[in-house]
Amino acid sequence: MQSFEELSAAFAARFKTRHFPLYPDSLYDPAEYFLGLGGKRIRPVLCLMGNELFGPIEDDAWEMATALELFHNFTLIHDDIMDKAPLRRGQPTVHAKYGSSTAILAGDVMMVVSYEYIGKVRSPHIRKLLQLFNQTAMKVCEGQQLDMDFESRAVVSMDDYLKMIELKTSVLLAGCLRIGALLGGAGLGNQDIIYDFGRNLGLAFQVQDDYLDCYGDASKFGKQVGGDILADKKTFLLIKTLEVADAAQRREIGVLKNAPPDEKVAGMLGIFKACGVGSWALELKHQYHAAALQRLDDIAVTSKRKEPLRHVVELLLQREH
Ligand code: IPE
Ligand code: IPE
Ligand code: MG
Ligand code: MG
Ligand code: MG
Repeated sequence: MQSFEELSAAFAARFKTRHFPLYPDSLYDPAEYFLGLGGKRIRPVLCLMGNELFGPIEDDAWEMATALELFHNFTLIHDDIMDKAPLRRGQPTVHAKYGSSTAILAGDVMMVVSYEYIGKVRSPHIRKLLQLFNQTAMKVCEGQQLDMDFESRAVVSMDDYLKMIELKTSVLLAGCLRIGALLGGAGLGNQDIIYDFGRNLGLAFQVQDDYLDCYGDASKFGKQVGGDILADKKTFLLIKTLEVADAAQRREIGVLKNAPPDEKVAGMLGIFKACGVGSWALELKHQYHAAALQRLDDIAVTSKRKEPLRHVVELLLQREH
């Protein structure tokens, strides 16, 4: 069984090869630029660990891991356009550096190349793998659409929010694990449980991301702190604030909506702090964290084999970036 550090180093060594043609460089350099910014490479490692939990890592798992990381990077490039984000991984986003048209196309080619890697898979399970990948990809788009719809919706319930983050974030982590598990020879029961482990892990991860977007340290987070406030994102923090705010705070939220950016972020953060929603968010994250560990326990393999995944959960949910 390999650790997160071993698998992510092995994946990084394979992934650093060039993935795109040279011409036109106006399209492919931006795509390579983005991949060169790094990232935690969580999704490919989850795919590899999902495999290794049940059996030796298959060549096909490396192809799927690459496809999944490329797919993730494609979603980030498009997400940054949609969220008008200036920074990612501590560097300018693709659209900020090269313009939106190039960023759309760089994302598009990344998704196409992602399928090129799936095309290299030789497993007899290829149809199932493709179906899992496609179902996951469609759900991510559905979640992203809901996220955008909610920006202009005044009332978003906690259930709406949880469904949205499950779609935009959790299903990909869960899908990576299930794809790996399938390749490792897991039966359907274990595949379902590992998927649900990933789903809970993803929910905790996105709640934490929403928390860090407000309370994170800009230099570690690598993204613009306060970006969700500026985009009127209906995160757990805002939904909970609207639940508990008094009349004066509600009025102030109304006024801040159209305030200059710095004032809006500072004002909303002040209200979040006054309402104590940060600790509610950490409590919610903790609940999903515990649920994830429970599901990991439920998988029918020896406890020792689960050690790397247990360690990943802790790494991921203690992150500051
Ligand atoms: C960012 O994911 C998108 C979210 C689901 C919050 P990561 O935090 O895994 O991004 P990188 O790949 O490590 O930059
Ligand atoms: C991430 O949601 C979901 C996807 C990229 C699919 P966010 O918009 O919160 O992610 P970050 O914060 O930009 O990484
Ligand atoms: Mg974003
Ligand atoms: Mg987004
Ligand atoms: Mg975010």
